[in-house]
Amino acid sequence: MTETPTAPNAYTERRASGCPFDPPPNRSRLLKEEPVSRTSLWNGATAWLVTRHTDQVALLRDQRISADNRNSGYPSISPAAEATRLHNQTFLTMDEPEHSEQRRRFTGDFSVKRVAALRPRIEAIVAELLDAMEKAGPPADLVSAFALPLPSLVICELLGVPYEDHEFFQRASAVMIDTRSSPQAALAASQEMVDYLGDLVEAKEKNPGTDLLSRIAVQYLRTGISDRDECAKQARLLLVAGHETTANMIALGTCALLQHPDQLAAVRDAGPDRVAGAVEELLRYLTIVHSGRRRVALADIELDGHTIHAGEGVILANDVANRDPEIFEDPDRLDIDRQARRHLAFGSGPHQCLGQNLARLELQIAYPALLRRFPGLRLDRSLSEIPFRDDMAVYGVYELPVAW
Ligand code: HEM
Repeated sequence: MTETPTAPNAYTERRASGCPFDPPPNRSRLLKEEPVSRTSLWNGATAWLVTRHTDQVALLRDQRISADNRNSGYPSISPAAEATRLHNQTFLTMDEPEHSEQRRRFTGDFSVKRVAALRPRIEAIVAELLDAMEKAGPPADLVSAFALPLPSLVICELLGVPYEDHEFFQRASAVMIDTRSSPQAALAASQEMVDYLGDLVEAKEKNPGTDLLSRIAVQYLRTGISDRDECAKQARLLLVAGHETTANMIALGTCALLQHPDQLAAVRDAGPDRVAGAVEELLRYLTIVHSGRRRVALADIELDGHTIHAGEGVILANDVANRDPEIFEDPDRLDIDRQARRHLAFGSGPHQCLGQNLARLELQIAYPALLRRFPGLRLDRSLSEIPFRDDMAVYGVYELPVAW
């Protein structure tokens, strides 16, 4: 096989100025010129960078590829992630059979049927938040008024986490996914969440309710199948993943639609099937979990004329794969009527997003409700003044000032 290429390209989340919805230009160039390449990380280490959609799908389903962040070659995203790597084990970063054993505990809670039953409650929360926004009048920050509270309220109710504590867990989770956090701050935030959720799960074990964490407490903690630490870490994964991601999709998706008025009008006036398609397209186009799927090779793997050696880190750039012209025609165009369902915004293979049915439902309710309530919705600042989240593991906007 060919020699290992050198690593001239530093892995970065920085996008070109004026192009906040497109992946960083260097990564997009690699898709065309060098779909399997070496990239250098923040600590000077190197990893393989894979950009093509078909290669990523194959690798994400390949048992020679490990998601286990305890592997020494694991390509951590930041000093903070490196510092918390060994303290943060959940099924997100486990391999089989432990991964499936733990994930299976939650699949029923996030099935299409169980999630569909949440529709009336999600619609009610959306209506309440929009009522409050309308009552307060313009301008508003869409993130704090709508995009963040909606998924936070939903995941709190599902898990049985008191929403009154949202400032605490939203702050701690932001520190955990901020690539600029110091290792000490990230460790402290992660531990605070585990302590908080450990107390909550233990309280539920003594006095269970009907929520998901009560079920886990009774079924796994009380029986000794699981301990406090494991339950708390699982709860933390669900709480963080359950609100950060969807919140950023709501705000960034709205921002993107505001830049594409024809698409915005179509979403506003669409029936449920067309809205569902629009949600898939927004997920593809924006790929908010933009830090790449991070893995380690467990055996030598031949790919595109290269040998990925056992023990080497691999980053699968799903943002670029979602712009692969082999899969999506004219991929840089936002087109809510395209067939976007093969996107990798939720990953692929065994670790594909557990909460995707919930995320889809929230988005399918949120976008049209917002656009119908405020038909004159507009940015209250120019696009160049919007603070985009380049430094966060989950992309989006810190604030979205809007008026109507
Ligand atoms: C638009 C919203 C969302 C996006 C874009 C998203 C994206 C992703 C991605 C890309 C992965 C794969 C990680 C990997 O392969 O390394 C993932 C996994 C996961 N997501 Fe989501 N997610 C979203 C919403 C949610 C929600 C609402 C929940 C609910 C709790 C959730 C829970 C999880 C969990 C538990 C995993 C780990 C699955 C596993 O390792 O088996 N996500 N998500």
